[in-house]
Amino acid sequence: MVGAVVLDSAGELAGEGWHQQFGGPHAEVFALAAAGDRARGGTLIVTLEPCCHHGKTPPCTEAVLRAGIARVVVAMADPFPKVAGGGLAVLRAAGVEVHVGLCEAEAIALNAPYLKLLRTGRPWVHAKWAMTLDGKIATHTGESKWISGEESRRRVHELRGRVDAILVGAGTVRADDPLLTVRPPGARVPARVVVSTSGNLPEACQLRATARDVPVIVYTANPAALMGWAADGAEVVRAEGLDAILADLGARRFTNLLIEGGAGLLGAAFDASAIDEFHVFIAPKLVGGSGPSPVGGAGLSRMADSLALSRASFEPSGDDVYLHGFARK
Ligand SMILES: NC(=O)c1ccc[n+]([C@@H]2O[C@H](COP(=O)([O-])OP(=O)(O)OC[C@H]3O[C@@H](n4cnc5c(N)ncnc54)[C@H](OP(=O)(O)O)[C@@H]3O)[C@@H](O)[C@H]2O)c1
Repeated sequence: MVGAVVLDSAGELAGEGWHQQFGGPHAEVFALAAAGDRARGGTLIVTLEPCCHHGKTPPCTEAVLRAGIARVVVAMADPFPKVAGGGLAVLRAAGVEVHVGLCEAEAIALNAPYLKLLRTGRPWVHAKWAMTLDGKIATHTGESKWISGEESRRRVHELRGRVDAILVGAGTVRADDPLLTVRPPGARVPARVVVSTSGNLPEACQLRATARDVPVIVYTANPAALMGWAADGAEVVRAEGLDAILADLGARRFTNLLIEGGAGLLGAAFDASAIDEFHVFIAPKLVGGSGPSPVGGAGLSRMADSLALSRASFEPSGDDVYLHGFARK
């Protein structure tokens, strides 16, 4: 997520731009185009170092120099290996005054998913669940529709439209038969991903029936059991263990992954400290009994070791409460 602003030589706002889609022109290009001749002798302020390589678009450094920009202020250098300070060096060598580090912490937070993918090869993991006031994600019979209200479900679809993939465990497919599409459509069409070690997935379900319309990836230790899914258009990948799955999703350049449950899969992700960001909808309802809680797995023994969220915020979401926060690492 990159934004850029051009100030003219008098310091007045002359143009703004942002990187609108992968493969499309970068933020600087939009801002310089908006500024036109007013960019000459002016200042470019941008959240990430301008690129200096031919990727899907020409180098931004060329556009900056062509526009006659005198000063460039960037929040942070770009760790992408083909840039990595090279853009700043090109600009300095051409006599442009370059400053780095304005609002750097904010820029790092803004681009945390991108930076994690570059650093670790794993996507940024969002965990989402809806639970009752007594901490259940389903009744004791496994029924979970619907815990949260309409406004919360609208927010979930908005969130889905911002991610590259949505991951659920096989238990959720067996219990809920989810479709996992974005309705109404968002900026992205996330791949729908299921993890089933056994390969025991339903013959007839919504994911399999729509696998040709929106991509479905199934990770399993038993691909032979899922030949029907492959024949219907799903991509069946042999992989065992959450980390191998995250590595494969990262290799596909998926930056943001949303885990939507259930308890088993979220528990495995929690035990592995794999969750980066939490989106929790708490409904003012109770169901009691032995229904599952959101995060299973082995869990922790000591309260002192509990994962405390940072930057946690709470807001009303219809009749529910939406809690958003980040894993403190
Ligand atoms: N309220 C909500 O937000 C929400 C959201 C989703 C689900 N749910 C509810 O949650 C329940 C399902 O949860 P669940 O815990 O039974 O199933 P789950 O977490 O959806 O799936 C567990 C299954 O995932 C597979 N798996 C592969 N690797 C795993 C790993 N490392 N750790 C754990 N599982 C792994 C296994 O499939 P195989 O057995 O095929 O090997 C395992 O049985 C349902 O009642 C559903 O309605 C509620």
